[in-house]
Amino acid sequence: MAHSLADDYPWISQPLIVNAPMGGFAGGALATAVTRAGGLGQIGAVYNMDELSDQLRIVEHELERCNHVLPIGVGLLPFVSKLEKALPVLEKFKPAVVWLFAANNFDDYKTWSARVREVTPRSKVWIQVGSVSAAVAVAESCRPDVLAIQGIDAGGHGFEKGASIISLLPEVADTLAKHGFGDIPLVASGGIVDGRGAAAALALGAQGVVMGTRFLAAEETIIHPGYRTAVLATTDGGQSTVRAKIFDELRGPNIWPVLYDGRGLVTESYNDHAAGVDIAQIRSLHADALKSEHAGFGESRRATVWAGTGVGLVNRVQPAEDIVTEVRNGAFAALDRVRSRL
Ligand SMILES: Cc1cc2nc3c(=O)[nH]c(=O)nc-3n(C[C@H](O)[C@H](O)[C@H](O)COP(=O)(O)O)c2cc1C
Repeated sequence: MAHSLADDYPWISQPLIVNAPMGGFAGGALATAVTRAGGLGQIGAVYNMDELSDQLRIVEHELERCNHVLPIGVGLLPFVSKLEKALPVLEKFKPAVVWLFAANNFDDYKTWSARVREVTPRSKVWIQVGSVSAAVAVAESCRPDVLAIQGIDAGGHGFEKGASIISLLPEVADTLAKHGFGDIPLVASGGIVDGRGAAAALALGAQGVVMGTRFLAAEETIIHPGYRTAVLATTDGGQSTVRAKIFDELRGPNIWPVLYDGRGLVTESYNDHAAGVDIAQIRSLHADALKSEHAGFGESRRATVWAGTGVGLVNRVQPAEDIVTEVRNGAFAALDRVRSRL
């Protein structure tokens, strides 16, 4: 039986709604608003630790500590974040959650989680993975406090090869239980944007849901207006988004570990790549577009717009608090509707 999240995060309302720690998008204002609404607010992975401290100070100013920790999460990317630089920041601010995603190999999570637990023992370590084998490997190497299971519909980076959350999450749950890790709580991500998706994730065995794409439309999110317009205007996410490595090759060589690619809107750069256009030419067109008036958004459609397949259901800007409340209430309503129909 999985450990209940309410024991470790007393401010949360069930079912738990979490904003994904979207690097450069999810700052202190978003994290504060999501936690205030009874969710887990998170700050996205940034490379510069001064920037992270600035965002954490916003939260520290707005929220009371809860059991000595700051009631939010901080995302870090072990393949590129510097552990020794991150530790003093984590030690100083003591976030409730340290969320790790994308290590060069699964053993790196062992080092990261051990060091994080050493400097801030009350913080919980959450790790996001996208396969059954990765979930087991990570559970064995460092027993995370929570595993975030990311399905292939997710926006932004994720496992290149994957399954949607509908088959991934129950298989992860069953396999973890078989290996003696059935007490690790699971949260689900990938394509969940409303109460119906959240209800489905709960039925699959998740204790909470993580949303990235839906929060791109939160008022508190840090986002270029052209990016937001593109998200709001896009429909039919299975057709209008694509997983590809080309998005990570537009500014130079791809530095992501080989296991990962990313899902974003189909852009002209993607279309050129699919048509066999040389990467040097694609990079040059991309760089020019970014310098143009609309920064590559709008007409030119060259700027990368990370978004998941749920993008078609995201069509209005709202305060983050309303998103959390709407999805939480929507999950209960969806579950009730199902019961009454059967
Ligand atoms: C714009 C954007 C940026 C993201 N950046 C990060 C990141 O920096 N670190 C991380 O762990 N996940 C990141 N993700 C992935 C999320 O953790 C999560 O898996 C995903 O958003 C869930 O799918 P959804 O977008 O369909 O809700 C990002 C996702 C998006 C859409």
